[in-house]
Amino acid sequence: MPPSRRELLAGAVATAAVTAAAPLAAAAPLAAAAAPASLQGIAARRGLRFGTAVPWQAGGRDGVPVADPAYARLIAAQCGLIVAENEMKWQHLRPTPTTFAFAHFDAIMAWAEREHLAVRGHNLLWHQPKWFPRWLNDYDFGAQPHAAAEALLTTHIRTVLDRYGRRIASYDVVNEAVRPEDGKLYDTSLSKALGGPEATLDLAFHTARSAAPQAQLVYNDYMSWEPGNAAHRDGVLRLLEGFRRRGVPVDALGVQSHLVTQGIDTGAAVARLEGDWRRFLDAVTAMGYGLLITELDVRDNHLPAAIPSRDRAVADFTRAYLDITLSYPKLRDVLCWGLSDAHSWIEGFEPRPDGVKRRPTPYDVALHPKPMRAAIAAALAAAPMR
Ligand code: G3I
Repeated sequence: MPPSRRELLAGAVATAAVTAAAPLAAAAPLAAAAAPASLQGIAARRGLRFGTAVPWQAGGRDGVPVADPAYARLIAAQCGLIVAENEMKWQHLRPTPTTFAFAHFDAIMAWAEREHLAVRGHNLLWHQPKWFPRWLNDYDFGAQPHAAAEALLTTHIRTVLDRYGRRIASYDVVNEAVRPEDGKLYDTSLSKALGGPEATLDLAFHTARSAAPQAQLVYNDYMSWEPGNAAHRDGVLRLLEGFRRRGVPVDALGVQSHLVTQGIDTGAAVARLEGDWRRFLDAVTAMGYGLLITELDVRDNHLPAAIPSRDRAVADFTRAYLDITLSYPKLRDVLCWGLSDAHSWIEGFEPRPDGVKRRPTPYDVALHPKPMRAAIAAALAAAPMR
């Protein structure tokens, strides 16, 4: 018999309490993590929301989108909002130029509504050829390519927004349009037909605004605070400045937050990273944009295999990142990209060189809370009130 919602909550509390008593808690006030509260409950007390990405998996029963019912219960118990990990992307929604396949997203949506979870939309345009369906990369736009591309893009966005209307209050309208290596924008089949990437992204946002005037419209990207991201951050700032200059309706920056640890000495790493990160967030918020953490997880690089020290470093890195980023009161939502190490994209994308399984999320493969869960709880509890 899988654990009930109440048992999962109790388990989280018990483990958090044990964690709080351990020496590693010295630097972080963990009282809130030990309180009988879910991450969403802790977040809500500061005017925040907590959530996670949810996949659609074959094998889910009784309308539950994930195959493991205990994982579904954990999500419902800990979260106030969710986002479909893949099922709103063109690759999933658009098998052909003339059809939409809504069944998997609808299943996630219906489950979320049954569980009283808010839903974010991810995403309406992932503007890279790599993430277009093949048919879109090969599309023949005909004799009037501008009109054909405009019809394709606006029909897509309107169809999705008309279907979900007010049931979704926040969308990643455009995802990852900036090339991390030089900060320039990707070109795609759509942007070649529409006269450039800026015109394409602008059209996406204008269409979204007119189809869902009440929704929060987000530009979402993975520029992060680690070394090697300066050109990416600069490119995102240029894009956001351009949106403002051209009067494009963009409300917030989605800061994905796929963090990468920098070694066992978290304090030294954070001291190196904090200045650039604050300068970036200062520049974004000075332009009037809101902020969301949309895809938090941690790649445990440059850390020993031993689980206690690895988990500790991941938790400390997460805590420091959240403390800094949550100090910006415009940030209202924190979403992880998966709650359990059993359900993370990272292992398949970049396994550790030593072959040891990664531990990128707040709960382990058996759904037991890890120090990262306590770190998130403590950071949420310590966040300035919204
Ligand atoms: O569903 C098919 C399955 O039928 C097939 O057998 C299998 C073979 O490869 O592929 C399955 O699809 C995979 C899908 O994940 C579902 O697991 C795709 O190949 C794979 O490309 C896809 O990866 C997703 C990736 O985005 C690309 O869409 C990851 O799950 C998802 O976590 C990742 O999420 C992105 C965000 O959208 C944007 N930010 C970065 C983040 C992490 O890369």
